[in-house]
Amino acid sequence: MSLLDHTPTTTGADAERVALEVFGLDAAASELPSERDRNFRLDTSDGGTWVLKVSNALERRAVLDVQARAAALAAAAGLPVQEPRAALSGDTVVDVDGHLVRLFEHLPGVLAADAPPSGQLRGDLGRVLGRLAAALDGFDHPEAHREFHWDVARADVVVRGLRDAVADPRRRVLLDSVLERFDAVVAPRLGTLRRAVIHGDANDHNVLVDPGVRERPAERFVRVCGLLDFGDLVHSLVVAEPAVAAAYVVMQSDDPIGAVADLAAGFHAEHPLSEDELEVLWTLVLARLSLSGVHAAAQSARRPDDPYLTVSEGPAWNALEALLAISPRRALYRLRDACGLDPHPHARVVRAHLSATPAQALFGRPWHELPIYPLDLSVGSDLFAGPDVGAGPERFDVLIRRDVDGDPDAIAVGGYGEARLIYTTPEFATGEDPSAERRTVHLGTDLWARAGTPLHAPRAGRVRRVHDNDAPLDYGPTVVLEHVTHGGVPYYSLYGHLAAETLTHLREGDDVAAGDVLGWIGSPPRNGDWAPHVHVQVILDLLELGVDYPGVALPSQASTFLGLSPDPALLLGLPESVSAPRPRPVEATLADRRRLLGPNLSVSYDDPLRITRGIGAYLVDDLGRSYLDSVNNVAHVGHAHPHVVRAGSRQMAVLNTNTRYLHEEVLRYAERLTATLPDPLSVCFFVNSGSEANDLALRLIRARTGAQDVICVEHGYHGHTQALIDVSPYKHAGAGGRGAPPWVQVAAMPDPYRGAHRGYDPSVGLAYADDVARCAAAVGDGNLAGWIVESMIGCGGQVVLPDGYLAAGAEAVRARGGLVIADEVQVGFGRVGPAFWGFATQGLVPDVVTVGKPAGDGHPLAAVVTTPQIAASFANGMEYFNTFGGNPVSAAIGNAVLDVIEQEDLAANAERIGRRILAGAVELSVEHEIVGDARGLGLYLGIELVRDRATLEPAAQEAAYVIERMRQLGVLVSTDGPFHNVLKIKPPLVWGDAEADRLLATLERVLREPALAR
Ligand SMILES: Cc1ncc(COP(=O)(O)O)c(C=O)c1O
Repeated sequence: MSLLDHTPTTTGADAERVALEVFGLDAAASELPSERDRNFRLDTSDGGTWVLKVSNALERRAVLDVQARAAALAAAAGLPVQEPRAALSGDTVVDVDGHLVRLFEHLPGVLAADAPPSGQLRGDLGRVLGRLAAALDGFDHPEAHREFHWDVARADVVVRGLRDAVADPRRRVLLDSVLERFDAVVAPRLGTLRRAVIHGDANDHNVLVDPGVRERPAERFVRVCGLLDFGDLVHSLVVAEPAVAAAYVVMQSDDPIGAVADLAAGFHAEHPLSEDELEVLWTLVLARLSLSGVHAAAQSARRPDDPYLTVSEGPAWNALEALLAISPRRALYRLRDACGLDPHPHARVVRAHLSATPAQALFGRPWHELPIYPLDLSVGSDLFAGPDVGAGPERFDVLIRRDVDGDPDAIAVGGYGEARLIYTTPEFATGEDPSAERRTVHLGTDLWARAGTPLHAPRAGRVRRVHDNDAPLDYGPTVVLEHVTHGGVPYYSLYGHLAAETLTHLREGDDVAAGDVLGWIGSPPRNGDWAPHVHVQVILDLLELGVDYPGVALPSQASTFLGLSPDPALLLGLPESVSAPRPRPVEATLADRRRLLGPNLSVSYDDPLRITRGIGAYLVDDLGRSYLDSVNNVAHVGHAHPHVVRAGSRQMAVLNTNTRYLHEEVLRYAERLTATLPDPLSVCFFVNSGSEANDLALRLIRARTGAQDVICVEHGYHGHTQALIDVSPYKHAGAGGRGAPPWVQVAAMPDPYRGAHRGYDPSVGLAYADDVARCAAAVGDGNLAGWIVESMIGCGGQVVLPDGYLAAGAEAVRARGGLVIADEVQVGFGRVGPAFWGFATQGLVPDVVTVGKPAGDGHPLAAVVTTPQIAASFANGMEYFNTFGGNPVSAAIGNAVLDVIEQEDLAANAERIGRRILAGAVELSVEHEIVGDARGLGLYLGIELVRDRATLEPAAQEAAYVIERMRQLGVLVSTDGPFHNVLKIKPPLVWGDAEADRLLATLERVLREPALAR
């Protein structure tokens, strides 16, 4: 008779009766799934929730006692576990009709099986289990020493016993593979591995996850808030605890090793795992999956109608098959790395051997006699600019030769550990998903030299493989040598991109003496179509991959793969100076920034980006991850536009000076800039930033009017000088601000979405303009210098002004003797479409226009443009001098930006792509209540997130979550607005349909995530 034959027959009515009579609880019962007991959820009328457990008839009281003691230890350590409650009799375990009954408080939370998987959650589960292991360390009890059919330490015995119950012969083959590994990897260590009492069943139906609340999406589903059911408690291997949990997390992940590594790292942080424990962990995961398989098969044979028995059967078999296809050593190396060990246990020995023994010269002559140049091919390398990013082999060779001062004999060396720009190009994409991580980190050293150069084996070895890897951009002809250290530890060296003759020169199995010619440097296209070079890589474990061993790794796995491929400088005896500098940890950059730069500089994202390169619509971090830039309206015509770069660098190479000398370039720029503006705006002052422009604009209107007072708009921002903080409510009315000074009047924000007047109708524009008139009237006669206003409100939340607002406001201001400054720093230069300037969409001709950000495509170039009369008033005898304003380099860059806007018809593009995004955002708002408003002109857009469309309660935390998640998916968006709930989209104008669609698709994906669900 098995346990299952002693499952209680208790009904819901029985459970209610027991609850009342034994525990004094008046509650309604509903059954919960259980394999061998009967569990009921009890709901009391006052909202209390409890769980009644009616144990299998074979369960003994002593067993339940030991479970209660373990749970008490866990609870004392602060872990979220259930402890049995006392019955009316005072006992925590009560015998009812031959079954032991206990009552537990019901823990809130969702089952891990129903929670969205994430690395954070897996890490937390690992930590909880590690803390549990620490809490149970030293605890023992005879009842825990049992031969238990779910104990992974006995999986070989159990699986062998039940193997034949599995009907499907393919599944039996899987089991046999697991048994073979268990015998090889686990069985020999069973006598020495650490043992303790473990929970033993942290499966995803026994783990509760905190669902959090929609208002705090970043905190949802990332924390374990309950560990249920100590019923499988057993004295077993300590490492079995994370192994059991891992068997469930692998079923929810496309990267099972990574998933187990997350969990193991969490566990290890709380309760360190030994090298031997890590050695068996992966096999124990397989063992647990096998147990799930055989038990499900055996039990469903007995109870074919019980769904609980088969609940995890299909996924378990699938996971088993998938995991068996993975090299277990590959898993081991990542697990070791995740736990802070050298990924390969032999790494130290091989490194020491290579350091201690001299190498023969790869090129036949000692390194110090050769013209060696370090070559930087990293993301930040200036070797490739603009169109050269994906250069073909001939151009690549030219660029390299240029970098080595044209020396045709030079050997350019580098690349070990280098995250390379070239691997970010489309040729190296492996799938369709643009958000997928790309392999960018180079695992070998490249030596770029003439084709045909003979290569000598740096160490004696045996030819393991000679192969033509003839796929495009692969290694071409490749040799792998096998070597051994003096102590007999094997390691390998790989040489790629060789000449075809190499393939017949060597044979697999040949012995090669150190110094023997092993092959020749190949030439394109035969060598995989690269500029001539040899790729040399040390490999500690070929992982059954041979010549297909990766030469480039994903950044997230780079530390593991670099651990498996030590620096070839050691193999080759290269001077250390040619190894690529290791990128500093991002945390180090952040710490130095905190130390060296002002503390109130903000840094975007929880996980800050170290952006190293910009290309058109994209930014690339130092590890070669590309991000779609939806935020940078400064890189107006695209990051590092080649035409702009060329114009700036040419002028830089010739002359840069100030405006005290005559120069045509600045006049050409002034001519072209004023040609885009309506009359009488025809006189320019050049400065270096939007702030400088606005500060100067205030001086101009004061000089003209002789008055001091200025009107600004609520939530407006105009710059960081003192005068501008005074007219920027976004600053002076915010944190650290001291409010508006007496000379400043603040007009109501003309917000058509959440303001006092709503909609874009001219009547709304007039109503808000009335408030500008009110401000003008509040200033004493003759005291009004003017009104400074953004043509679309930026920091205030990407607000499109209601029709007629600027014109009517200007009329009121001018009626009181004031002038109007249109701040175009955010939106000018065609961003809002063919109108070219924001004020032009409002029927206004301002008295002063300020421009900045986009003017120089990232170069600090800004300007004030005004009328001849105002300019004349400003010329009161005091010189206007600006060291950098209007310098020839800035002017050349300004001209180049205007060229690109015209040549690429970017204003029309902005209008077209902007409409596409807006239409997509409106579509999203149909399904996603949280999308309260989508608005904008051209490529200056805002998507406002709200919790409630009636109250417009801002969804700031949700917006923060959205931008963090989009960043993780490779799309940079930021938030703004007084409530930080507006997604602001103001990308380089070179966006096309693909960029617009990717933005929308990514936003949609995030909006669908469970963290944002109700
Ligand atoms: C509307 C507006 N005006 C002026 C400025 C100030 O420009 P800068 O940061 O170049 O000094 C900004 C900057 O964000 C702005 O958004």
